Amino acid sequence: MKTLIVYKTRHGCTDKCVQKLKRHLNGEVDVVNLKSTGSPALSDYGTVLIGGSIHVGQVQKKIKAFCLDHEVELKQKTLGLFLCCMEEGEKAQKQFDAAFSEGLRVHAAAQGLFGGEFDFDRMNFLERKIVKKVAGIKASTSRISEEAIDRFATDLARNLPEG
Ligand SMILES: Cc1cc2nc3c(=O)[nH]c(=O)nc-3n(C[C@H](O)[C@H](O)[C@H](O)COP(=O)(O)O)c2cc1C
Repeated sequence: MKTLIVYKTRHGCTDKCVQKLKRHLNGEVDVVNLKSTGSPALSDYGTVLIGGSIHVGQVQKKIKAFCLDHEVELKQKTLGLFLCCMEEGEKAQKQFDAAFSEGLRVHAAAQGLFGGEFDFDRMNFLERKIVKKVAGIKASTSRISEEAIDRFATDLARNLPEG
């Protein structure tokens, strides 16, 4: 059956990660950005991968709502959950745990923290100010983890049903 990737991005980092992830996946893959499209019908898909990014500690509300609205159906799919964020280690994991319900995390065949980017060209004045103050970073920085994306795809492939 087909794979669906559902995601949301603010400055394009999650979008880049989705494109990278897609290259690792076999078979037919549909990609839905929740910004431009409504919630897709899940019945066509055997595998659903959901990704968002963290801004001021929170994943996008649309990602939370999508997970909440479809929790029962998502538990019947091969599921993958991923996030883009600039925190690492324990802090990143806490953000991940707050972004996705325990039920979905336990069910997920693959979970990924893909790193992130600070893209100053795409930030508004306030966002630039927050990033400079909180993260102490003053120029665009990319910390996308190819390794994490690769590991996610490997975990997913290992857990896909035969056939
Ligand atoms: C205003 C702002 C606030 C952010 N807050 C957090 C945060 O609380 N924790 C974190 O790990 N990363 C934070 N980030 C980093 C983003 O998660 C990172 O830029 C990510 O790559 C964004 O992905 P996107 O472009 O797909 O939205 C923040 C970035 C911005 C611009």
